[in-house]
Amino acid sequence: KEITETMYRFPLIKVRGVPLRCYIADNWDSICAFRPDPSDILIATYPKAGTTWVQEIVDLLRHNGDAEATSRAPTPERFPFLEIHYPPPIPSGLSRLKNMDPPRVIKTHLPFQLVPKGFWENKCKTIYVARNAKDNLVSYYHFDKMTLIQPEPGPWDGYILKFMKGELAWGSWYDHVKGYWKERKKNNILYVFYEDMKENPRREVERIMHYLDMSLGYDVISHIVELTSFKSMKENPMANYSSMPTPIFDQSISPFMRKGEVGDWTNYFSPAQIQMFDDDYKRQMMDADIPFRTNI
Ligand code: A3P
Repeated sequence: KEITETMYRFPLIKVRGVPLRCYIADNWDSICAFRPDPSDILIATYPKAGTTWVQEIVDLLRHNGDAEATSRAPTPERFPFLEIHYPPPIPSGLSRLKNMDPPRVIKTHLPFQLVPKGFWENKCKTIYVARNAKDNLVSYYHFDKMTLIQPEPGPWDGYILKFMKGELAWGSWYDHVKGYWKERKKNNILYVFYEDMKENPRREVERIMHYLDMSLGYDVISHIVELTSFKSMKENPMANYSSMPTPIFDQSISPFMRKGEVGDWTNYFSPAQIQMFDDDYKRQMMDADIPFRTNI
């Protein structure tokens, strides 16, 4: 009971204009001061863009496709989540990092401008995963319903507006995808699209492998592609967040591995909502030319 009372619908507080869960905002100075090791790898995403999928791919690549090695612990334990802070006693991302030796594979949802500068100064390898706005939004909507520590999503209609205005946790999707896109060459960031991974997972696994300066055999890559299919990961207790307790995740409301498709947005947006969203999208994305696809 006590944990349910303390872990419920945390309000958001803005950090340099970006709304973050209050526990993250309250610990901002220590998050900002984090110094990674040059060997650390960063996986950066807007929430629900395919973080868990790429985490699993990277872990399998680093363990030569050995599923036993990647089953050593559930996702949140294998990949420290840089900025995450909960009420005690749940460990923060920083405390997990303190107890792990580099090289670590670190997760963040922070927009580029809030990522601790040490990642760029130390030239840490960074993989950014981006997903088209409409599918990202639909996925986030279901997630906010089942993650009882995020603010209440409210009705679908209003949720679309909050997304467009950048009012959801971790702020504006538009600024997020553009921020990393603009910096990708200068900071050697690998920019990966969820839609490309769905279309041709082997090609994208190989791209990630080459970026990490690795070279695995054909059969090992096939095995990794198989182990990281939506179906395999949905059934994998170390990758499907089944160990996350309620109320952090209440998967009876919506499973973490929900649908894993491109184009699910067509089941949610009305024609009027598409029109409104697309008009606004053109305006917000005018200054960037990122090749997003809303179907494949
Ligand atoms: P849906 O809600 O559309 O199903 P994140 O890991 O960033 O939180 O993203 C979660 C989204 O990625 C969910 O999307 C989830 O189903 C999807 N996902 C996770 N693993 C996947 C996989 N192996 N293949 C395709 N989609 C996957």
